[in-house]
Amino acid sequence: MDWFDRFSALAYDPFLSRGERRGMRARRAALIGDARGRVLEIGAGTGLNVEHYPTGLDELVLAEPIAAMADLLRRRLVTAGRVATVVEAPAEQLPFPDASFDTVVSTMVLCTVEDPHAAIDEIARVLRPGGSLLFVEHVRSTDSPRLARWQDRLEKPWAVFAAGCHPNRDTLALLSESPLRVAPVDTSRWDGMPAIVRPLVSGRAIA
Ligand SMILES: C[S@@+](CC[C@H](N)C(=O)[O-])C[C@H]1O[C@@H](n2cnc3c(N)ncnc32)[C@H](O)[C@@H]1O
Repeated sequence: MDWFDRFSALAYDPFLSRGERRGMRARRAALIGDARGRVLEIGAGTGLNVEHYPTGLDELVLAEPIAAMADLLRRRLVTAGRVATVVEAPAEQLPFPDASFDTVVSTMVLCTVEDPHAAIDEIARVLRPGGSLLFVEHVRSTDSPRLARWQDRLEKPWAVFAAGCHPNRDTLALLSESPLRVAPVDTSRWDGMPAIVRPLVSGRAIA
């Protein structure tokens, strides 16, 4: 296992902890409480969403391509006493049949995937008609041109620091151009985190 992946995985929860306390944990709970049926989470990371899944789902599948993250995810399932299938796969190549999930969850993942078009196409492919993508993503600022310029300037160094994250991705535009229908979104601030990962958009896109 790559030492950088292992270090990033171990540093992830401490780096996010302030932001989790200052609103992200509640945001996760509100979003993930809407998961229904057979559920797939992409880029599940260390499993910060696990505690929020409703009981009584048909199945919960957690996809995570980085082995070091997937190890922590499996540990989290044990300590949380939750049952889920962990699959080490990237969002761009989901090893599941067409129309096989009722809900897909993505929290701060479409900023990081290498090919967001391919990832969104895969999400649309695996969702059943009428199924939902539930998302929280940080995106390029639209209301502060100054912040947007800094997000552009710092894209490369930030990607090195934050394991491939692109702070200036216009994820809402990408979703709007996809086969998914984006329902009205909520825009907010990720308090307790650097300004470069503001604003957040959250909501639902329907297959
Ligand atoms: C900012 S973290 C978010 C983790 C988790 N979703 C959360 O809300 O805490 C980004 C996650 O995306 C994962 N990732 C990186 N490349 C990916 C890809 N191509 N497909 C899916 N996930 C990917 C990373 O390993 C990491 O777990």
